[in-house]
Amino acid sequence: MRRGPSRAQPQIEPTRDGLPVKISRAAERDLGQVRSLLEAARLPALPTDFPLSNLIVGLEGPLVIGAIGLEVSGLVGVLAFAAVAEGHARQGVGTSLIHALLSRANELGLRTIYLFTDRGREFFEKMSFVEIPRDAVPPQLRLTRALREASPTTPAFSLEIATRYM
Ligand SMILES: CC(C)(COP(=O)(O)OP(=O)(O)OC[C@H]1O[C@@H](n2cnc3c(N)ncnc32)[C@H](O)[C@@H]1OP(=O)(O)O)[C@@H](O)C(=O)NCCC(=O)NCCS
Repeated sequence: MRRGPSRAQPQIEPTRDGLPVKISRAAERDLGQVRSLLEAARLPALPTDFPLSNLIVGLEGPLVIGAIGLEVSGLVGVLAFAAVAEGHARQGVGTSLIHALLSRANELGLRTIYLFTDRGREFFEKMSFVEIPRDAVPPQLRLTRALREASPTTPAFSLEIATRYM
């Protein structure tokens, strides 16, 4: 089988269970598995135009066991989705994906990451996201799919990259 182009700078991070999980930017060949993962997690489908450069996967060998996506609008970013395969939950994969997402956001010069979700509150608060009033969400986020698809009552969160990452 012909292999695709090599991945950019993969990071190998052991999970808390000591399993090696490679955290890497997604490649075209991962997209089918990312779609299945999001479907299994009952999350919205991956948009067909989602840029690979802002899509990060956790890989166990060839298997995608986690994925996280960053939507960018000007100087702000929105965490579009985060999912870890059920059999791999609570092993630190989600944490590694958040670290990689923040690193990508930092690379893009973003200062704040927003999030709209009514699921995973404990996880995101552990990751230093704090709930904010919906009217504190910057207007430029209205252009993002994440905000357009959130219901008006979905809780909003933000994370200042400088306080968490620098
Ligand atoms: C949310 C999610 C991505 C977390 O991934 P994960 O790999 O299990 O997270 P981690 O193992 O890195 O968890 C880190 C910490 O977050 C907290 N946490 C994670 N999942 C939790 C849960 N279900 N309940 C309570 N706290 C939780 C814990 O404090 C955990 O540390 P601990 O295991 O030492 O107690 C995963 O549960 C998931 O895919 N959920 C379904 C999809 C979803 O709801 N996504 C969020 C909306 S987009």
